[in-house]
Amino acid sequence: MFDLLVKGGTLPDGTVADIGITGDRIAAVGRLDAEAGRVIDATGDLVAPPFVDPHFHMDATLSYGLPRVNASGTLLEGIALWGELRDIATVDDMVTRAVTYCDWAVSMGLLAIRTHVDTTPDHLRGVEAMLEVKRRVAPYLDLQLVAFPQDGLYRTKTGRQNLLRALDMGVDVVGGIPHFERTMEEGAESLRDLGRIAAERGLMWDVHCDETDDPMSRHVETMAREVTRHGLGGRAAGSHLTSMHSMDNYYVSKLLPLIAESGMTAIPNPLINITLQGRHDSYPKRRGLTRVKEMQALGIPVGWGQDCVLDPWYSLGTADMLDVAFMGLHVAQMTHPAEMARCFTMITETNAQILNLAGYGLKSGDQASLVVLDAGTPVEALRLRPDRLAVVSRGKVVAERLRNDCRLALPGRPPAVRRRHG
Ligand code: FE2
Repeated sequence: MFDLLVKGGTLPDGTVADIGITGDRIAAVGRLDAEAGRVIDATGDLVAPPFVDPHFHMDATLSYGLPRVNASGTLLEGIALWGELRDIATVDDMVTRAVTYCDWAVSMGLLAIRTHVDTTPDHLRGVEAMLEVKRRVAPYLDLQLVAFPQDGLYRTKTGRQNLLRALDMGVDVVGGIPHFERTMEEGAESLRDLGRIAAERGLMWDVHCDETDDPMSRHVETMAREVTRHGLGGRAAGSHLTSMHSMDNYYVSKLLPLIAESGMTAIPNPLINITLQGRHDSYPKRRGLTRVKEMQALGIPVGWGQDCVLDPWYSLGTADMLDVAFMGLHVAQMTHPAEMARCFTMITETNAQILNLAGYGLKSGDQASLVVLDAGTPVEALRLRPDRLAVVSRGKVVAERLRNDCRLALPGRPPAVRRRHG
């Protein structure tokens, strides 16, 4: 007798299986003939572990147009706008927007998010707000908070001190932004400092690193060295890494093995960087996405991150990690069937690995969290970005939607909108 039985779904590896759930754990996977308190018929549907977003900014989300829109579309104008907004937004404003965003995320099957929290202002209202959001959503959504010195660790008088205050308040992960420090040298020094802080406190480390088109922005090299020095591999991530797009190939041939040796992971954010990068170029305009396939070829774990939804940096977004992977697939030219399938793995298993999530997956004994999609395979899910028919978090159904099947709506006529094969 299970509390919940998800019947007949197709798992990402193509296996057809029932999933029996007891309490908040998966109790059994296979052909299961048992009673259950509730049965979800997933016959013909894709059943996947939940989506995971390893890079987001929840203190800024759903604020698009406040105090005004980003007219130039650049990263720097976005940072300037946010600098104004963070001092007028109240804790309540930020909590309300972030909790609304979390509702969107849950409805999309996105059940774990790492969000960077700006620790620059002395009032630390963003930190206070995100700690409150984390507490509220804890029963159904894993939220990791990163102490992020948006204006630089050393560029403001209290930048370093406020980052430490945020960690003392309970923020989980150490951040960083070396390319935004005053000089290359201070950027490198910030990495040595932050790597030491992460190691001494036993925390994970996730740095906005080289988010620029400058091919000489080479902080990831220093970061990899510090990760190796402190043995932080697997617990450290380089986010964005866009300068790698513009670097000299010979230099990259030395850099990538250093990153692989360190064990650090990488988080490109394709929706945002295809929008922000190359803004100073005429033609050709650079794409500004880091070297995804090249890093993966060396065994470096690379996951897709979302970064922004409706905020000073990005005017769109729906909390759908399939949109993120869809864009990444195009920009990184990952069109081979195996590469498309890998894009789905990146927003599920690889991102869970980057966040060091415990009990993630669809094996017996794993946490009972999953999403049922109106698609037959991971690649079809990327093509359709279909309805999430059911979302289960820790054994509880947290979102449900009716199947969008237009084939029944207009008999005899070809479907006008999204349609599955078969
Ligand atoms: Fe970011």
